[in-house]
Amino acid sequence: MNRPMLVFWETTRACLLACSHCRATAQRQALPGELDTADGLHLLEQVAAFGHPAPVVVFTGGDLLMRDDVADLISYARQLGLHTAAAPAVTPLLGWAALARLKAAGIDSISLSLDAPEAVHDRIRGVAGTFRHTLEAARIAQDLGLRVQINTVVMDQTVDTLADVAALILEARIPVWEVFFLIATGRGQADAMISPAATEDVCHFLLDASSYDLVVRTVEAPFVRRVLAERQQGVTGGRLYHRLRSRLEQRCGPAVHEVRFGTRGTLDGDGIVFVAYDGTISPGGFLPVSLGNSRQDNLVDVYRHHPLLQAIRERRLEDPCGSCVHRFVCGGSRARAYSASGDPLAADPACLLSAPA
Ligand SMILES: C[S@@+](CC[C@H](N)C(=O)[O-])C[C@H]1O[C@@H](n2cnc3c(N)ncnc32)[C@H](O)[C@@H]1O
Ligand code: SF4
Repeated sequence: MNRPMLVFWETTRACLLACSHCRATAQRQALPGELDTADGLHLLEQVAAFGHPAPVVVFTGGDLLMRDDVADLISYARQLGLHTAAAPAVTPLLGWAALARLKAAGIDSISLSLDAPEAVHDRIRGVAGTFRHTLEAARIAQDLGLRVQINTVVMDQTVDTLADVAALILEARIPVWEVFFLIATGRGQADAMISPAATEDVCHFLLDASSYDLVVRTVEAPFVRRVLAERQQGVTGGRLYHRLRSRLEQRCGPAVHEVRFGTRGTLDGDGIVFVAYDGTISPGGFLPVSLGNSRQDNLVDVYRHHPLLQAIRERRLEDPCGSCVHRFVCGGSRARAYSASGDPLAADPACLLSAPA
């Protein structure tokens, strides 16, 4: 791919929440060195320079609503012909007025995080009431005509309630569920990650969830596509999978169609690229390796020619990922490989094929 499908821009690290696993280690105040409005407009021009079809710019954070120039930045992206999405935090800043402002500025879709039923969600996000506010914000966004996506993080505290979260999303008629598998970066802790065997079961469950009225995508779990291929050979999940699947059927009834899961996903640096609050360019938000800086480097050149990104795209990886038959549909999470070993081209330790026998 000579252009990414998605460019994530971490507009700020400021955020009024302080989630337990936050990759950005966000805090209430913006950090020195944040890209200012002129830097941001320059970055958007660089994204437009990828040509057509233009990447989608995802305005993320931290919380983009902590910037007062966000509407101007979004409008400029639209003038440049870019499609835009927003990933705001659910705080008192996110009400009808802010959502309407995002929509008027040209945002097409928003993602909101919902990790677990109320008590656990509010504990993870650190502020009571966040769960209810999230469902309310989702409803307002839908009423305003925004496409809504729910993001859920998979970790020890959330894994047992994934079917309940799926049921909530289906009941709210939200069309897209993006499921993030924890990476030990920022405030994310390795001991909160689930085991490779549990990861396998969650992948089986997510494939089942895609046979309801829900587009399901994973982040940092590309081996879901290996699981999909293995299923076609008759492989199935274990006890956790069966428990999650029964719970989903109990709450939502039987599946409504066959499993529908994209056979080609993205990998950090292969289909996506990330620009941090200070302009640092990296393969993805969970893989904080610097490839350059948008203030002085050319984002298009970095994406097309950086040796690390070329190695990722050509799957010049350590074994077992490097010799795996699934490497071109999978490739392992480069972020998890890096967080576990310091080498972004190492094997992904969450994959069952990498786990010690
Ligand atoms: C980067 S956040 C951006 C939006 C906003 N700050 C939020 O938390 O909703 C997008 C998603 O990444 C998830 N996330 C944050 N830190 C993570 C980590 N260390 N590992 C995996 N997912 C993580 C969040 O839970 C959220 O759903
Ligand atoms: S070994 Fe690596 S490439 Fe193969 S399925 Fe596992 S994570 Fe994917």
